[in-house]
Amino acid sequence: MQFQCYASTKEITLSIGQTIGQFAPVPCVLTLTGNLGTGKTTLTKGIARGMGIQTTVNSPTFNICKIYHGDKKLVHIDAYRLDPSIDELGFEEEMDDAITVIEWSENTDMILNDPISITIDYDGENQRILTFEFNDSTIFRYDRLIQELQQWSH
Ligand SMILES: Nc1ncnc2c1ncn2[C@@H]1O[C@H](COP(=O)(O)OP(=O)(O)OP(=O)(O)O)[C@@H](O)[C@H]1O
Ligand SMILES: [Mg+2]
Repeated sequence: MQFQCYASTKEITLSIGQTIGQFAPVPCVLTLTGNLGTGKTTLTKGIARGMGIQTTVNSPTFNICKIYHGDKKLVHIDAYRLDPSIDELGFEEEMDDAITVIEWSENTDMILNDPISITIDYDGENQRILTFEFNDSTIFRYDRLIQELQQWSH
């Protein structure tokens, strides 16, 4: 199942993220795909906000993975600089009780359990289109999240 959300400002992308952080069930894996500067990290900051994480979330480019604790646990992975041949990263266990966000997941061979795929496309200076893709066989887990996201879908 697939649908699109439209974000005409950075604040809307943050709000969409906040809704994901609030309503995504644990555990949950989200892959974020999109060109440089489309808003992957911005969306992740919103997700952290929705999970009640107070600390600033920045791209973990140099450490690959950062973990934050709020109402739920956030595992934030940025695989941009990852060697694709590395398939055991050592933090897979951390994902079992967390919301995991992976930027540049195409750079990893990690086996992901039922990921929600989010592709962000640039559509003008401040306009972004977020395409969500859910696996049909497990979509029942995401009923509430999908319902909440419809406010940005038209
Ligand atoms: N609607 C929008 N949603 C998100 N960001 C927006 C939007 N409009 C403008 N921006 C700007 O686009 C930039 C997005 O940067 P961000 O770091 O989130 O992107 P990224 O996809 O993580 O980039 P990178 O691939 O370099 O990690 C920010 O400067 C932000 O202010
Ligand atoms: Mg980023």
